[in-house]
Amino acid sequence: MDFKNLHINGKRLQSTLEEMAKIGATPGGGVQRLTLTDEDKQARDLFVKWLKELELDITIDEMGNIFGKRAGKNNDLPPVMSGSHIDSQPKGGRFDGILGVMGPLEALRTLHENNIQTERPIVIVDWTNEEGSRFAPAMVSSGVWAGALERDYAYGRTDINGLTFLDELERIGYRGKAPAKKWPVHAYYEYHIEQGPMLEREGLIIGAPKGILCLHWYDIYLEGEANQVGPTPMEGRHDALCATAEMILKVNQLPDKMGGNMVATVGEIQNYPNSRNIIPDKVHFTVDIRSWDDDLAIRAWEDVKADFEAIAHSRGCPIKIEETWRVEHSPFDEKLVQRVLKTAENLGYSNLHMVSGAGHDASYMNQIAPTAMIFVPSIGGRSHVEVEATTWEDCEVGGNVLLHCLIQSANEN
Ligand code: GLV
Ligand code: MN
Ligand code: MN
Repeated sequence: MDFKNLHINGKRLQSTLEEMAKIGATPGGGVQRLTLTDEDKQARDLFVKWLKELELDITIDEMGNIFGKRAGKNNDLPPVMSGSHIDSQPKGGRFDGILGVMGPLEALRTLHENNIQTERPIVIVDWTNEEGSRFAPAMVSSGVWAGALERDYAYGRTDINGLTFLDELERIGYRGKAPAKKWPVHAYYEYHIEQGPMLEREGLIIGAPKGILCLHWYDIYLEGEANQVGPTPMEGRHDALCATAEMILKVNQLPDKMGGNMVATVGEIQNYPNSRNIIPDKVHFTVDIRSWDDDLAIRAWEDVKADFEAIAHSRGCPIKIEETWRVEHSPFDEKLVQRVLKTAENLGYSNLHMVSGAGHDASYMNQIAPTAMIFVPSIGGRSHVEVEATTWEDCEVGGNVLLHCLIQSANEN
């Protein structure tokens, strides 16, 4: 059968995205759907309802990952998989993650209404807690599923209020019975917004990353000595926030200092007791280091860690350092990446071979199955913000590329 003229329904994809964007909508036009919150539950419920309408075989595993399987002609063959995440950043955007769940849903709807049966089954997936902003680390449930992380480690992670991942997963009713354990996957595609400026800058529509940078996360805890700010002289203070300020700048200067291709960021900080007239005696902050070169990222960490220890010592602030999480850079399956580029070309869409600076569940999937991603442009290169946007036309284009990649992989022997 010739599928050349088969297209997704762009208007329907738009309306599902708009429907989802109502859940956790923020006044600034974005969404806040932190993992395992009531908003996450509401969006999951809607997703499951839509899966049921397609009569998919639905499984929820012990990490809350939601799978919907569409039967193929030969269900003994490993399926093709596609998905992403429903959760968002605090004050996040309407496209990050959810496009990669609604995109394959739209592709399956298209196959369904055209009575197209593929050789292999196709599985759509929503991975729990991709963002990692409520419970670190990120991509934790694809990590457990792929066998890279321990389930009980994930269950024990706590949010800023001390609530555990497991308690919150149970509270929203999404602790499933199926083991979070990989099965053979023929190919995994993740459809996503670019989250950076390259496609827009080049005037191109489809991006196919050759892979994802490494992600290294650290948590730093400092102790100082609290005191009344007025009567306490400047000399002899042990100000945990001042020590942190020096450390943050060291992180910011790190890429320049190391002279390689990397980025380094402090994005989260808690200061205690956080009163304008008390010298801070406790600070927690995070460090995020990314590069295509894992060794460079490690060397950079060793360098900045030594700076942290020296600063902590000179300010008399005891320091505790946690090496929270590392995922190595992920070079994708070259054949599948080429398929994304070729498919875009065949459909008449301009395209770019690039890299992904953002982390994705595709990193862990890449450890167990041939993996590729499909990117569409982010307006102004902005993401993880309420104004994050991609045109509906581009969402449709990416959906078409996904549809055709899925069909090709699902019809392979
Ligand atoms: C995931 O959103 C990341 O931190 O790149
Ligand atoms: Mn994402
Ligand atoms: Mn994200």
